[in-house]
Amino acid sequence: MNAKASQQKDNDDLTRVGPDTVMGALMRRYWLPAMQSSELEAGGAPVRLLLLGEKLVAWRSPQGSVGVMDHRCPHRNASLFFGRNEEDGLRCIYHGWQFNVEGRCVEVPNIPTGDDFKTRVKTTAYQAYERHGIVWVYMGDPAMAPPVPKIEVMDAEEGDLEIEFALRECNWMQALEGDIDTSHLGFLHVGNIEPDDLLPDDPMRYVVANRAPRLEVAEAPWGTTYCATKRTPSGGRYLRYANFMFPCWTQAPQGQFENNLFSRAWVPMDDTHTMSITLLWKKRGNLFRTMANGEPLPGVAPLALLPNTSDWLGRFRCVQNPRNDYLIDREAQRSNRIFSGIENIGMQDQAVTESMGPITDRTREQLAPSDLMIARTRRRLLQAARALAADGTQPPGVDDPFVYRMARSGDMMVEGEASWQETYETKIREAVRLGE
Ligand code: FES
Ligand SMILES: [Fe+2]
Repeated sequence: MNAKASQQKDNDDLTRVGPDTVMGALMRRYWLPAMQSSELEAGGAPVRLLLLGEKLVAWRSPQGSVGVMDHRCPHRNASLFFGRNEEDGLRCIYHGWQFNVEGRCVEVPNIPTGDDFKTRVKTTAYQAYERHGIVWVYMGDPAMAPPVPKIEVMDAEEGDLEIEFALRECNWMQALEGDIDTSHLGFLHVGNIEPDDLLPDDPMRYVVANRAPRLEVAEAPWGTTYCATKRTPSGGRYLRYANFMFPCWTQAPQGQFENNLFSRAWVPMDDTHTMSITLLWKKRGNLFRTMANGEPLPGVAPLALLPNTSDWLGRFRCVQNPRNDYLIDREAQRSNRIFSGIENIGMQDQAVTESMGPITDRTREQLAPSDLMIARTRRRLLQAARALAADGTQPPGVDDPFVYRMARSGDMMVEGEASWQETYETKIREAVRLGE
């Protein structure tokens, strides 16, 4: 295979998530956050759910349990989205076959021998689990369901998490890569800010005083980790840590390391659509403070969503989207009020990653040293997916959900010359910890 063909093969293996792909198989070894619990009303209408390229239907029984199964009725493929949510299960409106939340066929009423026949009906149904108002789904071999991952932010008390869902209209991996790409912060998000625009003690000063951080990258038990370093005028260092965690999680340095309980899942809906699911501990500090003049940073308007529809892609759509050029304000861009001209930090990320195309063509990229974390993460994911395909080697976190326990992101100021890894070890032990 020539170099270009091999790069193309890497890109295909990295990005495709259908049932017969290596990355799809890897994703199916994990519990994935998929929906908000509030999307499913007890005894209410089923919801179309697109996950890992599979068209599913999710519903909540009148008793409150969640069912997730192939949306096609196993009889003759009519969509169970139109089903009746009854006492004993979801009933197909075509010939009345009925399925419980485990996906078992409980009634075949259109034939005289239905009671016997129903035991032979096979369906594809998946396990669901709820916590913090999120429905998690496991789409792998039922006999091999792993424990739920011990991601730190999930240890927060119920009600202490802020949860944000947003549809990203591109492949999951290029969306994820935005969160582990530290050098874009100084351009895309704060390219218009100069140090003296900020409060004297705002660490963001170091980001904008030197927009070319030194980057250190290493593999970690949970995936990969980086540290971006800047020297401060006093001779100390400003450090920003971030993580990639298997299979599709990031921890971006959007707050102080001390209490930054934050994780984001980039859940593949199909190869070209991703649900970004952000979990924030409400008591953490924020990366963005006010400007020195007391004004909020420009370009930090809250996320605006359109009302959900019942379409496969109708959930958590952004008001700013490719059809309206994210409402880019060229005057704000020209005057440098907002570097990108696009309101909202997340929408700035959305615009650049979606603009790469539905699946970015990585064979034409020219990676720089600033992309080391991205390159290492791609390699780690590909190696894990191929090892699973080759001999069933379980990817990180499946057998041991505690690999996530020590993963934390955030920024900090340090004196002294301890290595970035030693500093991490010290600071995670001193940090605010939940669930221990
Ligand atoms: S297609 Fe569903 S019962 Fe016939
Ligand atoms: Fe960003």
